[in-house]
Amino acid sequence: MFLHGTSKVNEKNHLEIGGVDTVELAKQYGTPLYVYDVALIRERARSFRETFKRLNIAAQVAYASKAFSTIAMVQLAHEEGLSLDVVSGGELFTAIQAGFPVERIHFHGNNKSYEELDMAVKNNIGCIVVDNFYELSLLEQVCIENKTTMKILLRVTPGVEAHTHDYITTGQDDSKFGFGLENGQADQAVEQALHSEYLELLGIHSHIGSQIFETTGFLVAAGKMFGKLKDWKDRFGFAPKVLNLGGGFGIRYTEEDKPLPASKYVEAIIGEVKKHADDLSIDIPEIWIEPGRSIVGDAGTTIYSVGSRKEVPNIRQYIAIDGGMTDNIRPALYQAKYEAVLANRVEDPVEETVSIAGKCCESGDMLIWDLPLPKANSDDMLAVFCTGAYGYAMANNYNRIPRPAVVFVENGEAQLVVQRESYEDLVRLDIPLKSKIVD
Ligand code: LLP
Repeated sequence: MFLHGTSKVNEKNHLEIGGVDTVELAKQYGTPLYVYDVALIRERARSFRETFKRLNIAAQVAYASKAFSTIAMVQLAHEEGLSLDVVSGGELFTAIQAGFPVERIHFHGNNKSYEELDMAVKNNIGCIVVDNFYELSLLEQVCIENKTTMKILLRVTPGVEAHTHDYITTGQDDSKFGFGLENGQADQAVEQALHSEYLELLGIHSHIGSQIFETTGFLVAAGKMFGKLKDWKDRFGFAPKVLNLGGGFGIRYTEEDKPLPASKYVEAIIGEVKKHADDLSIDIPEIWIEPGRSIVGDAGTTIYSVGSRKEVPNIRQYIAIDGGMTDNIRPALYQAKYEAVLANRVEDPVEETVSIAGKCCESGDMLIWDLPLPKANSDDMLAVFCTGAYGYAMANNYNRIPRPAVVFVENGEAQLVVQRESYEDLVRLDIPLKSKIVD
């Protein structure tokens, strides 16, 4: 069993996080329950920021709030001196409600609407990461209407895709995101942006993938971007203030996963950036990154109550919990793997291998296959680790199942930061038929 952050087993053989007994939390707030280890989130944020500081490189570490966006989380990101990456009007609204400093908000997305751009411009956010030519014109129009300017980055597709241990240099730009670096689109976008009176081009951005364990993909992408920067310096006299290399730093879900510490990714990236900047006589731009999963992923644990059991003789023991693909769609969507223990009997001896089923009416709603556990029954609670990123963020109401509550724990104290949805919440937007169809 691998325990993350402040998680430990207490004298009652219960899982404790942030000095709080998770069994007590489940009794108080119900299950399923997302529990976040705040100290671990702080530690992850600091390790990125401190590495840049140690290397004496001007940087912004922007938390990719798509991983987990709530008012309390955005406030925590602010407390830790992070910037914020938002990808929709909803995430931007959350950030504004949280009182996040607008000048450190960066707005992403491949199809931002007029209303979203207008909201960003009216709120005077730090920068917009422009994704395509349509947006370039639309944003200019929004700036003209608002009689103001906006700082932008251009998202480019560097022809590098990375996932876990593999990276592929595709050499082409077949992605829905960004301006192709190799097919001339990025050059045209830079030229267009530089000619605009309303847009201030800060630099360029790339994001090469997610759950990446190696540094190579980032280095190849940086190399390709510098190649272009040299070109743009010669052609347009353009020197970028910012180079944003995106997010995607991997975390440990199971023992097969072997991520690098944050410092290693940052050191490798900076080494490469310095080398290219030196070679091409370009000033080192400010380096921005956008970690999401690696800030919140392993800080989240979901506590479930165990319910029914079904044995398929000689084949499998199914154990069902009171959540599933509604609070964690990643196993169904990506075959994602997780580790889990019984929160109320953590160190009891393993007695059987079971498969954990969700409660949705869908065969694909399985959380974990072949998990070694003590013999669990309906008094038990299951703790699934590493659910902090893209868990609550992708939660849904399939089968009209309410979304769970979220609790932050730190230094022996618990704070409810998202209430559990009620049945009333589920029908809140429904409008009954105007006339009776049945007497
Ligand atoms: N920046 C950009 C432009 C991105 O598109 C993403 C993630 C990030 C930063 C943050 O990546 P991270 O550090 O969290 O890997 N739902 C999927 C993940 C989708 C990631 C989309 N973009 C999952 O559950 O694995």
